[in-house]
Amino acid sequence: MKTLAGLILGLLICDAARAAPTLEPIHYDSEPYDATLEDPDPFYSLESLPVDQAEIEIGTTMPSGNRELLTPPPLPKEEEGEEEEEESTPRLIDGSSPQEPEFPGVLGPHTNEDFPTCLLCTCISTTVYCDDRELDAIPPLPRNTAYFYSRFNRIKKINKNDFASLNDLKRIDLTSNLISEIDDDAFRKLPQLRELVLRDNKIRQLPELPTTLTFIDVSNNRLGRKGIKQEAFKEMYDLHHLYLTDNNLDHIPLPLPENLRALHLQNNNILEMHEDTFCDIKNLTYIRKALEDIRLDGNPINLSKTPQAYMCLPRLPIGSLV
Ligand SMILES: *[C@@H]1O[C@H](CO)[C@@H](O)[C@H](O)[C@H]1NC(C)=O
Ligand SMILES: *[C@@H]1O[C@H](CO)[C@@H](O)[C@H](O)[C@H]1NC(C)=O
Repeated sequence: MKTLAGLILGLLICDAARAAPTLEPIHYDSEPYDATLEDPDPFYSLESLPVDQAEIEIGTTMPSGNRELLTPPPLPKEEEGEEEEEESTPRLIDGSSPQEPEFPGVLGPHTNEDFPTCLLCTCISTTVYCDDRELDAIPPLPRNTAYFYSRFNRIKKINKNDFASLNDLKRIDLTSNLISEIDDDAFRKLPQLRELVLRDNKIRQLPELPTTLTFIDVSNNRLGRKGIKQEAFKEMYDLHHLYLTDNNLDHIPLPLPENLRALHLQNNNILEMHEDTFCDIKNLTYIRKALEDIRLDGNPINLSKTPQAYMCLPRLPIGSLV
């Protein structure tokens, strides 16, 4: 993850250097790469790179060849049928295309011809990449956006209209922003939303969530004892991953949907659970066969106190048994 972030960061710096020639000249090409031999580049820690990539870093002496080494994250697979273009579909411009028009100022008024966000960010088909663009709010998004990435920015709040009418939106990834507040309606009306990644923010209260979600990651936030609404995940029949680590939670959010496969709750403040948290103590034939990955390590809970609580599970939870 660190490596990927580094690569993206590097790519963006190259873009920025190219797109803003009026800035003071900064020689990103040669300087940091020469320096990697002695002191680690601030963006790339050699220790954390896989061996083959570390070798590439050290071997890089061609100043113009660097861009090829920096690959963007793999694109999510498009579903069939999404290729069809309607006439009203905004033309998506890849931010790195050579015919880039004059920069219209950050997030200027939107026209159907060239969507302003796609000049600042990178739009490829129905995916919008806005990672590391110093954004402090969600930018206006093309109507047909299906995958939206805006990691490593400074977004503080998500408003109820930020994603309004984006009926094709399937994935939102806002990892590593400064989000502390989300309007309760911000995600609720997104009919196709499946994956929501909000990790590494300052969120105190989870808003109303659509029941279509399959993957939720809100790790490393500030949900505490009241940040998750009662029965928040109950109706999410397709939810299979729920990641809530590092939140100072003091309870396991119940009920857990039947198809849940992974429940990560490590490094919270959970003190106890009940015999029927996962299983049905009145019905010994009930098996919760999907839930095979429960993490409770890093909590002040003693799993030995509820020996009946795991009978229906395919595997014991990970956590303290003494
Ligand atoms: C007990 O659980 C089994 C398996 O989930 C189910 O088929 C059965 O209806 C349950 N019985 C009762 C009394 O709830
Ligand atoms: C954990 O619970 C078991 C069973 O009740 C008990 O024997 C053990 O002493 C407990 N451990 C701690 C550290 O409280």
